Amino acid sequence: MQLTRYLLQWSKNVTMPAATLATSSSFSRSTSDLIEKYSRFSPSPISLRQFIDFAQKSGNEKSSFRWLRQEIPTRLANMMKEMNRFPDDLLSTASTSLVTSWYKTSFEEMMRYRDVPVNNDITENFTETLRKIVVRHRNVVETMAFGIMEWTEKMSRKKKVFSETDKENIQYFLDRFYTSRIGIRLLINQHVLLFGDSADREPNLYGSIDPNCDVGCVVQEAYDNAKFLCEQYYLGAPEVKMHVHNVVNEHDPTVNIIYCPSHLYHVCFELFKNAMRATMEFHPDHASDVPPIDVLVTKGHDDCCIKVSDRGGGASREKRQRWFEYLYSTAPRPSRGDASRVAPLAGYGYGLPLSRLYARYLGGDLEIQSIDGFGTDTYIYLRSPSNEAIETVPVFNSTTTEQYRRPHLSGDWVAPISSSSQTKKKRISNKSKS
Ligand SMILES: Nc1ncnc2c1ncn2[C@@H]1O[C@H](COP(=O)(O)OP(=O)(O)OP(=O)(O)O)[C@@H](O)[C@H]1O
Ligand SMILES: [Mg+2]
Repeated sequence: MQLTRYLLQWSKNVTMPAATLATSSSFSRSTSDLIEKYSRFSPSPISLRQFIDFAQKSGNEKSSFRWLRQEIPTRLANMMKEMNRFPDDLLSTASTSLVTSWYKTSFEEMMRYRDVPVNNDITENFTETLRKIVVRHRNVVETMAFGIMEWTEKMSRKKKVFSETDKENIQYFLDRFYTSRIGIRLLINQHVLLFGDSADREPNLYGSIDPNCDVGCVVQEAYDNAKFLCEQYYLGAPEVKMHVHNVVNEHDPTVNIIYCPSHLYHVCFELFKNAMRATMEFHPDHASDVPPIDVLVTKGHDDCCIKVSDRGGGASREKRQRWFEYLYSTAPRPSRGDASRVAPLAGYGYGLPLSRLYARYLGGDLEIQSIDGFGTDTYIYLRSPSNEAIETVPVFNSTTTEQYRRPHLSGDWVAPISSSSQTKKKRISNKSKS
């Protein structure tokens, strides 16, 4: 994650006057009613095939406008209702208030198009509004992360500890919140790129989707950029050895699928940064001669798979279990607001959880197998047939409410506590006594 630029801005955001930080209680009656109304609609997920068909054949700006003026506020409202389930201590942090205020403003802007007749002026304004929404929400990921950090600090000042239920709820919420954001951004980007300024369009892409995405090329680009970063920190980087195997067409030396290359790039870049850092840290005395990262790219009839294998020492199952937790990182947290630094290689604990969301969003997945003392294999799974790569997006309903209320169940197996966790526990209890 590249937070440095944002962190500078962050220091400005927190000093904004309180009046600009709307909270849910400051919603006007009519906005609240509309949020309530739209949150009862269910989002309508679409497939990559539908995205492409719309862009290539059937789509025009007016039909896109008609669909988005319903779909975007529906997705925003579903998420706003879910945020209302937050504990007050979290809702009232400066960062969380900022995020809720962005959602509210964007929702209200969408409402302006609710009942208007469809004509060229309106669709032009609509595209401009969508652009503004993208800009307004560009720092949502980091700001929400700061909201959680502020909440943690608040809790520790009050000498409160997070319960297991709190921790599960944070993970559950952030997964859904960020997935919803990925989806809304893709919908908006498709519209803006297809019908907005043609200068923004990239040749070969339909919006942000590539009907012929060369997976190997995207992997190579992600590797090159991660390598560049790694060399700045470690004065060296592992080489990559890539094998491409197309099972569907043995004569094709490449793997091409319909996909959103920016999503795939994001995931691969994060995995390479992790693999490189682990490799360089595990071989501290051999910066110029570390084991390579092996990559296997395959295309089967149902799945396209990218396997990234490093020899960076891996981790035990106990540690590995925490890798997908937000804010879990074994790297020192990069300092705030130092713009002169190069982008950090690690330290926010967002790389893996977000990458898994990107993969899952279009019906794929991300899995990890680690061997303690040896290395790690990470598998990215993507859907090969584009009609099966369908958005997975959250909906706010009674199951969601139940999920937040559900108490954490303690285990119903009795197992001896390992000596290492016993020592850790002892250390913690000694600390709290002193
Ligand atoms: N290939 C790997 N080998 C060894 N440890 C790994 C590997 N991938 C992830 N980890 C461990 O999992 C932790 C979480 O990874 P994650 O990518 O989510 O966050 P990060 O790399 O610390 O920070 P960032 O958000 O900047 O990516 C890492 O700090 C590291 O301890
Ligand atoms: Mg990382």
